[in-house]
Amino acid sequence: SGGHELPSFHHPNTKGGPTCAVIALKCPHIAVTIVDLNQARIDAWNSPDFALPIYEPGLEEVVRQARGRNLFFSTDVDKAIQEADLIFVSVNTPTKKSGVGAGFGADLHYVESATRRIAAVATSSKIVVEKSTVPCRTAESMRTILEANCKPGCRFDILSNPEFLAEGTAIGDLFKPDRVLIGSLQTQEGKDACAGLAGVYANWVPKDRILTVGLWSSELSKLAANAMLAQRISSINALSAICEATGANIDEVAHAVGFDSRVGPKFLRASVGFGGSCFQKDILNLVYLSESLHLPQVAEYWRQVVEMNEYQKSRFSKSVVDTLFNTITGKHIAVLGFAFKADTGDTRESPAITIVRDFLAERAYVTIYDPKVDEAQIWQDLSEACPSLSLEQIKKQVTIAHSALDACKQKEAIVIATEWKEFREIDWQTVYDDMTKPAFVFDGRLLVDADKLRQIGFKVKVIGRGERL
Ligand code: UDX
Repeated sequence: SGGHELPSFHHPNTKGGPTCAVIALKCPHIAVTIVDLNQARIDAWNSPDFALPIYEPGLEEVVRQARGRNLFFSTDVDKAIQEADLIFVSVNTPTKKSGVGAGFGADLHYVESATRRIAAVATSSKIVVEKSTVPCRTAESMRTILEANCKPGCRFDILSNPEFLAEGTAIGDLFKPDRVLIGSLQTQEGKDACAGLAGVYANWVPKDRILTVGLWSSELSKLAANAMLAQRISSINALSAICEATGANIDEVAHAVGFDSRVGPKFLRASVGFGGSCFQKDILNLVYLSESLHLPQVAEYWRQVVEMNEYQKSRFSKSVVDTLFNTITGKHIAVLGFAFKADTGDTRESPAITIVRDFLAERAYVTIYDPKVDEAQIWQDLSEACPSLSLEQIKKQVTIAHSALDACKQKEAIVIATEWKEFREIDWQTVYDDMTKPAFVFDGRLLVDADKLRQIGFKVKVIGRGERL
């Protein structure tokens, strides 16, 4: 089988590579070729010192074991298509920036060009697996393109096989998935193709966790799963605002609510807002889909999950300004963490970007530290978030530090935007001694031991806690 990736504008595709690497590891009898048109990215996958193009705990070990054995990386897309029996289309599907559905609909440009390439190049029958998250009924379009362009004797079966892994835990999620979902047409050929792919996963996933459903159910399930996960976070974040206003404690509320086995304890952590490449994009897709289906109430319902997230981010920025005596102009603030969550270098839709943008609009000086995000990525994200500022102007206000301690020196306030474990282990006494007083800490991730910090002398504000500073 072969993976197929096309380059995206800035971000490497973060799911296709790990998924296909794990398939290769678990199925030594299957040759897996991951292809990408981007030479630099393929060179990174092939690099002798395993300087892989994405950071994901455990990935290097997987690649070390399988690379050269039955896992290959190449830019020769056509050859890989010709040789493959099964092709994963795992390209990025960003939100459209212009045209119909701008800001909502998925940009299917990469999916379509990958599909057309397969049709043009294939000389034998293939199972084509839609792995990217796509709007409902995309598989249908892929099938139309493939059928209209295929050569005599070639048949294409389309499957939908959405990926549910989360970044930072990708390898663990792939080794032990809650479920593998495969959608197919309910024809005999569709079911046979489905059984073929299920057979690949059955090499390491228990059979009762491999779910087979109709094509459109599969496509919709991926959007639904992400929308409902994001909805949980927006719900808990909405409650965190009530906690702050009343003196209740969101940790205690989440714990109490999560004890109900129907609700469950996971994914109820209040935060400065959710980020990542999936949640917002998939909800907006669902909103767009609902609108195109003339279901405005349904669209409005899901849109609110994203709006609550925007509110949470701006509420957090505002509380920093309010607490710092209603102005942060000319003040120095450290922002710890820039990735959208811990254990990843990915910054897509990271709440840290919005917060820093808000601080810049107030003309504060911001020092950013993140253990895994590249400097160039930070500059790029801030340039995009602040189109009215030149990079030069941004650089006058923003500094990038190389350690948390450095970032915090002589600052008026510290903002925790990502839940990196190392921020819990900072030498807070040293940080305190070097800060302007009163020294403020704003914990947007329920990370620090607020009581301990208060004993040192900090003024601490934690998301979802109503206590006084
Ligand atoms: C998500 C889904 O979990 C995954 O199944 C899907 O395949 C892709 O989208 P990912 O975006 O990698 O994965 O990360 P996830 O762990 O879901 O976190 C998303 C965002 O929500 C992060 O910004 C995270 O910090 C935030 N979050 C998560 C919370 O604020 N509170 C929580 O309780 C959980």
